[in-house]
Amino acid sequence: MRGGAHVVVFAPIPGDAHVLRDVLREEGVALHLCFEASAFYDALDDRALAAVITEEGLAHCAPAELEAVLRRQDEWSDLPVLALAGGDAGGIDTDRFARLAGIGNVTLLIRPTSRRMLSMALRAALRARRLQFAVRDHWRDLENAVMERTESLEHAVQERRRAEQALAESRRLESLGRLTGGIAHDFNNLLQVISGGETLVRLFLGGQLDDRTTRALDGVARAAAHGAALTQQLLAYARRQPLAAIVIDLRAHLHASSDLLLRTVGPRARLHLRVARDVWPVLADPAQLDAALLNIIGNARDAMPDGGTLAFCARNWTLPDHGLPEAEGLDGDFVCLTLTDDGEGMSEDTAHQAFEPFFTTKPVGKGTGLGLSQVYGFAIQSQGLAFIRREDVGTTIGMLLPRAAAPVAEPAPMAEASDARLQGMRILCVEDDPAVAETTAALLEGLGARVRVVDGADAALEADLDAFDVVLSDVMMPGSMDGIGLARRLARDRPGLPVVLISGYMVDPARLQDLAVRFVRKPFALREIAAALLDSVQEARSQ
Ligand SMILES: Nc1ncnc2c1ncn2[C@@H]1O[C@H](COP(=O)(O)OP(=O)(O)OP(=O)(O)O)[C@@H](O)[C@H]1O
Ligand SMILES: [Mg+2]
Repeated sequence: MRGGAHVVVFAPIPGDAHVLRDVLREEGVALHLCFEASAFYDALDDRALAAVITEEGLAHCAPAELEAVLRRQDEWSDLPVLALAGGDAGGIDTDRFARLAGIGNVTLLIRPTSRRMLSMALRAALRARRLQFAVRDHWRDLENAVMERTESLEHAVQERRRAEQALAESRRLESLGRLTGGIAHDFNNLLQVISGGETLVRLFLGGQLDDRTTRALDGVARAAAHGAALTQQLLAYARRQPLAAIVIDLRAHLHASSDLLLRTVGPRARLHLRVARDVWPVLADPAQLDAALLNIIGNARDAMPDGGTLAFCARNWTLPDHGLPEAEGLDGDFVCLTLTDDGEGMSEDTAHQAFEPFFTTKPVGKGTGLGLSQVYGFAIQSQGLAFIRREDVGTTIGMLLPRAAAPVAEPAPMAEASDARLQGMRILCVEDDPAVAETTAALLEGLGARVRVVDGADAALEADLDAFDVVLSDVMMPGSMDGIGLARRLARDRPGLPVVLISGYMVDPARLQDLAVRFVRKPFALREIAAALLDSVQEARSQ
């Protein structure tokens, strides 16, 4: 009999068994009758409420075996055993009972015994056993509670470890970003001198330029442009890119860029563009957006050397959304751009590191590992995010860009700057790097401007500001005030004096936002800076 609790009885003489059955029935307890010693041993488990063994039963048990069975009980268990001695078996084997009493919780009853005595002894045994069961249950509850608590502690420890890892990871990327940003800043100054020098040599030599010199200068210009593109990507990763965020109508923007995008996909792959009709305008820097798209598309092309399909999808997305765990903490309306290729795909390790600068799996000379770090830096700096999905076949790279509150503005007409002349313009140039200052001044003077150079904001404020039409200042400068501080001071004290800021590196792009200054990225081309200077002077005069 398996199942519920019962009293185990080993009483080979049928009369004993009958009496016991009756007594137990009166107590409302089931009986489990055993006919052999081995069955009796097996039944002594934690469903046994008590054991009853007669002297005849005991005679069938090997003392060592019975002892072993009673000793294997759990700690909470001390099974009550009623031993019925004497009776038909003849004299009592006191040794056997003494030994049994030594190892178990044994009550000895001498037969013949009254039913009343038997039921009282049984009741006492059952009561003791039920107490043991209560202790057992309590014990188990405690064990479960301890286990649950341990599990929840382990869970909390794991959560904490994960959070610490994420924090360490973001600190690592952050310090890598600072390092990268610092290097890019110095590089920009060097590039500025190189490309400025190249332009000056062309200006100086003019008609005397021979083919060889032109070729050499073209090489310098190409190298400087390549260097500038690299530093832009470094700055993007470092999130030190001076972003010129405007409201972008994605459908129009993608339409305008589609030639470039298609060229980047190459002839072997197909590009499927799916832009939702009602897609919201986004707030982002269009040049950086294009750079990010080109980086993603270039990667997809490399991942599909034998051709394939690249699906480009843009749709509205409102956060929070549980389908995008990376977006935890972001809230509001976004546009989600995803580019899914069916190429070779990324391993888990690659996907884990792909946003890091200089992480590449491509052979030397094929990849610098800066593409996706630009994507990442651009998306984060635009107050959105970038993510990677490993697909069954291929890869998805996604970007969330914030929805623009304002409608799309008409683009301001650009000053025609290609042959802009700055004849007679009086420029106060604030630049702490003497080599950059010298080339900038020489370039501007080459266009007819009169330039005075000072090496910092303090010196600029001490100058006779009435003698200048415009202030052209670097942003990052040592001293008590940087270029933005200077622009802010001039906006307050000299509202009529326009300011043009130049930098490739910025501490906090948000500081620029409410300032009505023009901004030029370093390294700049001569016509860019000339256009910015002309625009700002014309605007100041018209006010
Ligand atoms: N669409 C993709 N499919 C498969 N792997 C990709 C994909 N995009 C990126 N990767 C992996 O991520 C790595 C990093 O990409 P990332 O664009 O940052 O650098 P890169 O392409 O190696 O070099 P760079 O873009 O600077 O020339 C790649 O080397 C490649 O292993
Ligand atoms: Mg790439």
